Amino acid sequence: MENNILKGKKGIVFGALDKKSIAWKVAVNAYKEGAEIVLTNAPIALRMGTINDLAKQTNSIVIPADATSMEDLNNLYNKSMDYFGSKFDFILHSIGMSVNVRKGKQYYDMNYDWTQKGMDVSAMSFHKTIKAAFDIDALNEYASIIALSYVAAQRVFHSYNDMADNKALLESIARSFGYHYGLKKNVRVNTVSQSPTITTAGSGVDGFDGFYKFADDLSPLGNASAEDCAKYCVTLFSDYTKMVTMQNLFHDGGFSSMGMSQQVMDNYMKSVKGNK
Ligand SMILES: NC(=O)c1ccc[n+]([C@@H]2O[C@H](COP(=O)([O-])OP(=O)(O)OC[C@H]3O[C@@H](n4cnc5c(N)ncnc54)[C@H](O)[C@@H]3O)[C@@H](O)[C@H]2O)c1
Repeated sequence: MENNILKGKKGIVFGALDKKSIAWKVAVNAYKEGAEIVLTNAPIALRMGTINDLAKQTNSIVIPADATSMEDLNNLYNKSMDYFGSKFDFILHSIGMSVNVRKGKQYYDMNYDWTQKGMDVSAMSFHKTIKAAFDIDALNEYASIIALSYVAAQRVFHSYNDMADNKALLESIARSFGYHYGLKKNVRVNTVSQSPTITTAGSGVDGFDGFYKFADDLSPLGNASAEDCAKYCVTLFSDYTKMVTMQNLFHDGGFSSMGMSQQVMDNYMKSVKGNK
């Protein structure tokens, strides 16, 4: 159902590691809708992942950048503008990592050096990706910047750990920079709060299978897939959503508005009765 809604648009996609990555699907769908793309990821991820396959599939180039390094980001944007022959129209920030989560640390027992590292990669990198573009005026009027978030920014999920704090900061950066970049250049900044999704980063969270199943049972539409998320991001890059900015947009099949569903209640009562 391609409609060329990104025809003439140019953008940068951060965070495609492998075929399961949400960013991978965003790149494929943006390309199908007519966009020209530059792909980027941290140098180490480029060595581990399969991004060159994606570059072929989307007729794009890959420029390495650690999203925590202003020097790398400036180099990425300057080279991208050379490649595009112009400024560009969208940025996807699809980056997340917590060392505390990886190492199984509890929230009340976190290692603060790891916390800082995770916050730099997962949240401050969003500020930096926006600031680098802001400083060199890399974006066209009404360009669209999106980062991916999770509902743990608002609600407690017992093992999501410091990633919950990182997502809260990420969403706040979208509002604060959305204000400044909106005034300067009508650039839009939003976060998309996505359902649990089976990817490398997602599956690294302890108890992920349970989160996934619970959300699927609670949400009237079920969990939103990575493919659906990509299609939503494409609409947010397009001119059809030109006046949407500074929002955290839930893309979760209804999960965030639910309290209890019949399905979850039935499953819960079965286990309660089974334990008696
Ligand atoms: N999978 C889920 O359940 C889920 C749900 C909601 C939101 N999200 C968010 O979606 C985003 C993408 O995650 P994903 O699930 O596609 O997993 P993923 O593991 O495929 O993507 C995470 C990406 O972050 C990149 N990255 C890490 N450190 C980096 C750095 N310093 N510089 C540049 N890139 C770096 C990794 O190389 C990887 O490509 C993350 O922000 C994640 O928190 C995921």
